[in-house]
Amino acid sequence: MEINKLIEKAKMARENAYVPYSNFKVGAVLETESGKIFTGANVENSSFGLSMCAERIAIFKAVSEGETKFKRMIIIADTKDVVSPCGACRQVMSEFGNFEVILSNMKGKMKVTDVESLLPMAFNLKKDRE
Ligand code: THU
Repeated sequence: MEINKLIEKAKMARENAYVPYSNFKVGAVLETESGKIFTGANVENSSFGLSMCAERIAIFKAVSEGETKFKRMIIIADTKDVVSPCGACRQVMSEFGNFEVILSNMKGKMKVTDVESLLPMAFNLKKDRE
């Protein structure tokens, strides 16, 4: 799918963020190699540690529907510079190989990177046992 369409989808996903505590909405879109689209938004909880990031929600939605090969992910938030994913999300991304990651913000800023650049030397038990 075209980048601008993916950004639009990420913005729409971001609108569903449930963020009564941080008021910081994040949207994520995951495009699979098979061409399917999965979206995510962050979901917070009164017990703060139970909150979940937009990126992991999109990935878990895809994996739980049988999709594990990813082409790219788009992440968007209302940040000054492009949004940068947290360490936990980088680790979860790296479980599924190296795919393109487009970091963006609501002002139209974009940075194209990939999972290996976001998390060099990632821990991966599967690779360790090869
Ligand atoms: N958050 C995400 O959803 N993704 C990120 O990349 C950074 C942080 C969420 C977690 C929490 O709901 C809020 O943003 C503030 O940390």
